[in-house]
Amino acid sequence: MGIHRTNRASGLLIELSEDGGSLYERLTSGIRAAIVAGRLAPGHLLPPSRVLAAELGCSRWVVNEAYTQLAAEGQLQTRQGSGTRVTTHPATRDPDRTPETGRAPAAPPVVADLRPGAPDVAAFPAPAWTRSLQHVLTTVEWEPSLFPPPAGAWRLREVVAAYLSRVRGLTVEADEVLITCGTSHGVSLVARVLAARGVPHLAVEDPGWPRLHQVAVAAGLPTEPVAVDAEGLDVEALRRTGAQAVLCAPAHQFPTGTALSPTRRLALLAWATQRTSVIIEDDYDAEFRYDRRPIGALAGLDRSRVVYLGSVSKTLHPGLRLGWMVPPPALRQPLLDALDSAGAGPSTLDQLTFARLADTGGYDRHLRRVRKVYRARRDALVTALGSHAVIRDCGPVLGIAAGLHLLVPLPPGLHDHMIAEHLAGRGIAAMALSGYATRRHAPALVIGYGRLTPTRAQWAAEQLAEVLLDLRP
Ligand SMILES: Cc1ncc(COP(=O)(O)O)c(C=O)c1O
Repeated sequence: MGIHRTNRASGLLIELSEDGGSLYERLTSGIRAAIVAGRLAPGHLLPPSRVLAAELGCSRWVVNEAYTQLAAEGQLQTRQGSGTRVTTHPATRDPDRTPETGRAPAAPPVVADLRPGAPDVAAFPAPAWTRSLQHVLTTVEWEPSLFPPPAGAWRLREVVAAYLSRVRGLTVEADEVLITCGTSHGVSLVARVLAARGVPHLAVEDPGWPRLHQVAVAAGLPTEPVAVDAEGLDVEALRRTGAQAVLCAPAHQFPTGTALSPTRRLALLAWATQRTSVIIEDDYDAEFRYDRRPIGALAGLDRSRVVYLGSVSKTLHPGLRLGWMVPPPALRQPLLDALDSAGAGPSTLDQLTFARLADTGGYDRHLRRVRKVYRARRDALVTALGSHAVIRDCGPVLGIAAGLHLLVPLPPGLHDHMIAEHLAGRGIAAMALSGYATRRHAPALVIGYGRLTPTRAQWAAEQLAEVLLDLRP
């Protein structure tokens, strides 16, 4: 339940929720909600921060911070001398009121970004990272590492080997680990090596993350989709393709969220052994498990047929471009050559800083902390979605045991792209399952909750419920 407070100086009605959070957060949400609901029209002049602060009984800092945040989101516009104004009107854009510019109306700004794949970069362990960087800068002799070895900084390879043995059940030595710029980079390198060896195509999960498929194609390896069901990759369907290589995410399939079942894991390894084929294991989201027991890496069961890929894109920051791979012994040298000839790897500074962070326990501490945050966000989203009968009636949300996203089934007969478009019109960016698939699927939305606060989750669920009530057959 919110408290309504009217700013008598301007007639501005702002609703400050009592759901917790700082005054700054509640004020930001209150103004954003007023814009979305249409109570603040485009061009509306907001009261000066001094006036609003006095009205709300808070400091000017709180109001200024809220204005700055909303300006960064594109909701407000601040000009020296002419005050702060509302720029757009995401929820109720009326085409009749769009000025005749001859151009299509601009897409509404994103109020809630529910696209999957994004961690909360605000949770980045900046102080610990800075301490590690400081340590590296003051202790490392730069001369020998001016040009880093193509396999990566030795200290990081040691740290990754220890981490994989301890956390992912993958017992490896440091010299078996190669440092990459992330999973996409790893897929690109493996695809190049396999294509050069005459492998005709790469089987990929359908649905799956198109980016990795594009990367493989660009490296010379066309892809062939293979269905995914409730147990993960359909290994019988894979057999029928005649493929000699497959890319899959056994720990947490993207976007369905399933974990490859124990029977399928064994069947997949048996397929690879019988066909002398290669499995590229994208160890996606393995760090974020909430309700299910840890699932070790597939490569831990058979090193000879699996190229293992990991990265810090979900755990720390996708912008770091830092990851690793553990190839089977037979592919190690060709992959090292591919890394060398590509001539680019992650910065040595970042490699050594991450190694130091892990060495000092900072990475483990960070993972423990964000796991709690993400779990709470997932719970809040599941509760918010479940509080609307129209969403509940479509069946249970799926893929919630791990990761940073979940799957919301939609009423049969509605196209998920259409629902995503309607949500976009309300300032919500969400992805349709069909955007990740080549074959027909029951309609569903793929919703990321890495950056979704409980208040925003509630609002987003309300918006989805309204859209479904409007559109359901
Ligand atoms: C399925 C999947 N695998 C892996 C990654 C990580 O890729 P990278 O390490 O290249 O950032 C992502 C990122 O969104 C992903 O969606």
